[in-house]
Amino acid sequence: MKSPTLLVLGLFTFALLIGCSSSDDGGGGSDPDVTPVDPDPIPTQTSTYIGHVKTIIDTNCLDCHGSPVQNSAPMELVSYQQVVDAVNDRNLFSFISTTNAFNVMPPSDEGGRMPQATIDIVEDWIADGLLEQ
Ligand code: HEC
Repeated sequence: MKSPTLLVLGLFTFALLIGCSSSDDGGGGSDPDVTPVDPDPIPTQTSTYIGHVKTIIDTNCLDCHGSPVQNSAPMELVSYQQVVDAVNDRNLFSFISTTNAFNVMPPSDEGGRMPQATIDIVEDWIADGLLEQ
């Protein structure tokens, strides 16, 4: 065991913990378990927002994340940039892929977790680099 390395890592982690406070969370519930992004879930396809993802968001999310937002959804998912921001800053992929019925998007009482093949398309889009078209 390389204890000096572990000690440095431990101190670094501790410094991070006391250095950061996550008070900018609007109180919208805790993040679900993070699912690691597969390096390329659909190797035969380069997924794009216009070609593949927009329809999924429009069909499953805009009832609440439209413009204006409904049912106290915290942000819009109407434009490409809004969806990209939600992937980068709001953990969008974790919310759609979690198997936790309390956190999943769409919410359980509104259809719940989308089919795995649909989730795979969003994951592939992320893995392929969040292309617009
Ligand atoms: C029935 C309304 C409804 C639908 C449909 C819905 N959402 Fe939500 N969403 C909410 C509400 C309300 C919140 C805030 C409370 C929470 O986090 O559970 C939320 C929170 C989120 C968050 C976390 C935002 C944050 O910063 O905490 C993400 C990401 C998200 N939704 C993505 C989606 C996606 C992607 C879809 C479609 C696949 C979707 N939602 C469908 C109502 C909805």
